[in-house]
Amino acid sequence: LTLASATLTRSSQAQAVAGAPAADPEGLVLPGALYGAGRANAAGWDVSCPAHLAPLTQAVAQAVVPAVALATPATVDATMARLHQGFDAWDDRPLAERAAVLRRAADLLEARTPAYCGLLVKEAHKTLGDCVAEVREAIDFCRYYASQAEERLGEVVLPGPTGERNTLRCTGRGVFVCISPWNFPLAIFAGQVVAALVTGNTVAAKPAEQTPAVAAAFVALLHEAGVPADALALLHGPGETVGAALVADPRTAGVCFTGSTAVAKHIQRALAAQDGAIVPLIAETGGLNAMVVDSTALPEQVVDAVVQSAFRSAGQRCSALRLLCLHEAVADAILHMLAGAMAELRLGDPAELRTDVGPVIDAEAHAGIRAQLARLEREARPIASTPLPAELAARWPTLVAPAAFELARVDQLQAEIFGPVLHVVRWGPGQARQGGAADAGALVRQINALGYGLTFGVQTRIDSRAQALARQARVGNVYVNRNMIGAVVGVQPFGGEGLSGTGPKAGGPHYLYRFCAERTVTVNT
Ligand code: NAD
Ligand code: ALA
Repeated sequence: LTLASATLTRSSQAQAVAGAPAADPEGLVLPGALYGAGRANAAGWDVSCPAHLAPLTQAVAQAVVPAVALATPATVDATMARLHQGFDAWDDRPLAERAAVLRRAADLLEARTPAYCGLLVKEAHKTLGDCVAEVREAIDFCRYYASQAEERLGEVVLPGPTGERNTLRCTGRGVFVCISPWNFPLAIFAGQVVAALVTGNTVAAKPAEQTPAVAAAFVALLHEAGVPADALALLHGPGETVGAALVADPRTAGVCFTGSTAVAKHIQRALAAQDGAIVPLIAETGGLNAMVVDSTALPEQVVDAVVQSAFRSAGQRCSALRLLCLHEAVADAILHMLAGAMAELRLGDPAELRTDVGPVIDAEAHAGIRAQLARLEREARPIASTPLPAELAARWPTLVAPAAFELARVDQLQAEIFGPVLHVVRWGPGQARQGGAADAGALVRQINALGYGLTFGVQTRIDSRAQALARQARVGNVYVNRNMIGAVVGVQPFGGEGLSGTGPKAGGPHYLYRFCAERTVTVNT
């Protein structure tokens, strides 16, 4: 597929219940609760329920993050040889068998939710609510891709002339290299790996060096569910060495990468420079995600959506809101409310249910965000921040207090800051003199010119404006009158365009095709 696709989520649509999708002239309506929130919530964990919270808290207390062995050039070579050899047998397995393995993995993961939450808190410093959502997303990926594979990848008999039989079938490509980031060390890792496996590929998985233990636990679970040792291997180590060696290996038949735009481009160049086969790259990267708020928007809804989108997960989501664009008529009132809401956010221990914002991933990330904050303090107008008491900062040295800064123009926004940092600009007729946007159309043109295209929010009570902006914004996921994070598998297929990625959209109906080779067989009967 060479199409770019955008997922449009309205606050009312997100509440949809399972049932026959209605026809919609705006696009394909996706089922609301088949796999995602509805399916997993029914059997899932609710941190606000004391009976659920107790085992989760106990699992966090008991979780131990084991050390892992790093791959060497010799292990990379031997592993790629094994996976290359294992390909035919795994690809020859009936689709239904591979799908059954994914469903077994989903069941095992569901049964072990507390243990995985414990690892996620300890290794990735995620809050409990985020951990439960992440395990649920990983389960959803397994079940969704199992169903999609059975539904979409079977052999198709094509119409043809009498005396000829034409069939089209999907096969794996060979060894797929899956390289993932630390911010969703289970869900993104799992989504990539199970998609590559169910389509018949063998998989060399390289998780982020910050979060190897969660990945190792999931790979062990996949082997337990029935994935053979020569169909899946885990290689730990730095991206610059182990990741680069996997990309450069002549046996690599495809690369699925999620991470920064800079590394995606590096991998693209490395693949292009290789002799031998043309190796496809699926890349999902960062964003400079904007939310446009007009003068008809509901201020309380805006503030709630901004706080969730910009600061939940300590802003460490590719989907997170980075640029809030307020109509000048309502900007001061909304900023006043936002400052109040930010003052109320609770920072601290991710294992405590009361915590809204936990520490960022590590000291290096902390130092990088602090450097960007120092730059913004010089170059922009500080608007609001969450207080960070000295004793809390001493106990959790990688906490970053959420902060918001006002810029004069959209094009002052620089590269993605992967933390709880929000930029604000005003728009409206009074802003044109300083190079600002006089109307919403001009504003979206400025946002598009940044070159990223991941998520986009609109807050308005004018439906025609929401529709017009959703069409104009060059992004993968549009959210109207709600927050802009937490895409649900099978409900809000997720992924961007431009500097934000190549597609296809994870958790969407077209995802699996990109992992496949297609073979047409014509028989003269
Ligand atoms: P990163 O690009 O630094 O690392 C991602 C992975 O690439 C890691 O496993 C790393 O070891 C590996 N890597 C690094 N250099 C490599 C090389 N030369 N060759 C091969 N592999 C290499 O990203 P990160 O810091 O782990 O994650 C944060 C970034 O990921 C942010 O930019 C965020 O927006 C993005 N992200 C995007 C999505 C999405 O779906 N679009 C989802 C999550 C995160
Ligand atoms: N899929 C994740 C989200 O939507 C990144 O927030």
